[in-house]
Amino acid sequence: MRGWRHVLVAWCCALLCTPAALSQSPWQDTRRTPDERARLLNAQLTLDERIRMLHGPLAMPVRGFVLPPGVQPSAGYVPGVERLGIPALRETDASLGVTNPRQQRPGDGATALPSGLALAATFNTRLAYESGAMIGAEAHAKGFNVLLAGGVNLARDPRNGRNFEYLGEDPLLAGTLGGESVRGIQDQHVIATVKHFVLNGQETGRHFANSRIDVAALRESDLLAFQIAIERGRPGSVMCAYNLVNDHYSCGNDFLLNQVLKRDWGYRGWVMSDWGAVGDVSFATLGLDQQSGEQLDAQVHFGAPLKAAVQSGSVTRERVSDMTLRILRSMFAVGLFEHPPQRREIDYAANARVARAVADEGLVLLKNDGALLPLADNLKRIAVIGGRADLGVLSGGGSSQVVAPGGRANVVPLGGEGRLAAYRSMTFHSTSVPVAMRARAPGVQVVFDDGRYPAAAAAVAHSADVAIVFANQWMGEGEDAPDLSLPEGQDALIAAVAAANPRTVVVLQTGGPVTMPWHDRVPAIVAAWYAGAGGTGAITGVLFGDVNPSGRLPVTFPVSLQQYPRERLPGLGLPDGTRFEVPYTEGADVGYRRFAALNQEPLYAFGHGLSYTQFGYANLSLEGGRDLRVSFDVTNQGPRAGADTPQVYLRAIGARRASRLIGFAKLTLSPGQTRRLTLQVDPRLLADFDVARNRWRVRGTTYHVALARSAAVNVQSASVRLAARWLEP
Ligand code: BGC
Repeated sequence: MRGWRHVLVAWCCALLCTPAALSQSPWQDTRRTPDERARLLNAQLTLDERIRMLHGPLAMPVRGFVLPPGVQPSAGYVPGVERLGIPALRETDASLGVTNPRQQRPGDGATALPSGLALAATFNTRLAYESGAMIGAEAHAKGFNVLLAGGVNLARDPRNGRNFEYLGEDPLLAGTLGGESVRGIQDQHVIATVKHFVLNGQETGRHFANSRIDVAALRESDLLAFQIAIERGRPGSVMCAYNLVNDHYSCGNDFLLNQVLKRDWGYRGWVMSDWGAVGDVSFATLGLDQQSGEQLDAQVHFGAPLKAAVQSGSVTRERVSDMTLRILRSMFAVGLFEHPPQRREIDYAANARVARAVADEGLVLLKNDGALLPLADNLKRIAVIGGRADLGVLSGGGSSQVVAPGGRANVVPLGGEGRLAAYRSMTFHSTSVPVAMRARAPGVQVVFDDGRYPAAAAAVAHSADVAIVFANQWMGEGEDAPDLSLPEGQDALIAAVAAANPRTVVVLQTGGPVTMPWHDRVPAIVAAWYAGAGGTGAITGVLFGDVNPSGRLPVTFPVSLQQYPRERLPGLGLPDGTRFEVPYTEGADVGYRRFAALNQEPLYAFGHGLSYTQFGYANLSLEGGRDLRVSFDVTNQGPRAGADTPQVYLRAIGARRASRLIGFAKLTLSPGQTRRLTLQVDPRLLADFDVARNRWRVRGTTYHVALARSAAVNVQSASVRLAARWLEP
């Protein structure tokens, strides 16, 4: 009898536990499209369940919020709907790795990527994908299914405290690399978040800044960066920003969210707010789908007030249904149902190699007079000075701040007061630079001086064959640099060291461009940005020549701040709460484009970067007609292997001058090797946006194109005719 019962149970189980029976609910059928599945599941939700999915807190014990059991502290959490098997959204920052705000998860560190600008400087789409996949996999292995990663705001103002998180000043570069990073993240079944939509161009007064810009110019610049990133990466979510754009808060901006993003671009994911960026419940009608960091707003607008608005009819049921549909659609599209995040071991050593690869290719050799670098074999004594290089390499602050595996962090607090004071500290990643240099060159005496006193540093420099000064500009969320000088007397330090030793190398660790009053007295300069977990190895590698530098500037380095449109930082010194204008009068001419338009010479142009070998370009040919195709040869003419970034710029449309990056490639060549490349140009980069017709317009005329080393140095030029054409917005 007992035996029969067993057989019966086994038989029933075989019948009922088949995949077909388990996935009885039609939305669980993975053969259906994400849209179909989302539609089927969405139809099951009650109004209360919908409302629950449309708002969530900063998942930290902040302003009375108590973490529900099983929820780990992080940037955000939105409960799921257990009845229907809808998983909660477990959100973490950000583009440079998985963060652990205020170390609320004790000891839980992560692999720190170099800054976004370092990634942009690689001009390497493969590295963007791989580094995205790496942080996506870490997020998944730590129990998260949403990464608030995908910052593609253009660096319009070099003082912006968050430029380091983003991907530079050009829409093609930022959009392409941003999109690849998103693709990498989402291939790990973690939703990525392109942000901060849009024109979040400065941190000063970020909640009160009214970014003002001509609409056509906006389409051709910052919006184009987002558009390219979204097309390429298909992010599950887009985060709107704190600031206003043309008089409307960007999270309650019908034009940006409903008309551009959802109508014109056909975006099917959801818009989440930045943390504390929701004004009121009307934002739901204006295109916002979800309120994040709700305890930072005056009210949980998308909670009870939204429900009341639906019941009173001021927000339609259709709209609320659309909001949850978008969230569910992204969850299905990225695989959150089938591949829930699972805590597992992380191979940090392997991941550090990914971070190292980005740093290796992201370092930019700005200047190398007399081939001072790589350092010669016969040096006896090297002075390493300043930058707290004995602690490791600098990183940027704010919500994107990563702490190293094991929670290890060399932290130097900066102090200060205010909302983001807790984030104001300099964190150093990787390992001590002088120690690494000693390991790399055991026969060389490496001495370190902290650089606090220029006279002492100069004496140490004088006694060495080469002096290497590390100069730091810490940047962080919530504040901008008032100017482009190196803080804390470092300009004077460099001048003193250079006077004591003409063989001085400066390694800049900055959140963007800085001015260099000592420039002409220093033979070699390396822009190391914030170099991340593999930073020390990459910097040492470039200095000693184990790594052939191949980074190119993703932002212009100016001679002075006067070369930019807003000499005084808008909003600086205004009492909190005062609304002010940020007039983006340069329009679409961001960065190098404005330098070209005004015939200004920068200190170092966008796209500039040296190598220990030389590359030659030849046989430029253009194919026109409907689409533009550009072909050319690249040859490594020097003595060692290296990687190059040939760049293609539009220089004029008919008789009208222009300066636009329309194509780039990254390729590694051995000595003497030649490769022919063909690039297909995105027609929007050749077009102007016609606001009245809401279309891109490619004019039927002659296009003048240059194969170039940077925005300022053409190697070959050619022209071609293109047919007139209108393109969808
Ligand atoms: C930042 C976002 C971040 C969010 C959550 C905000 O202050 O602007 O970039 O994702 O906080 O930490």
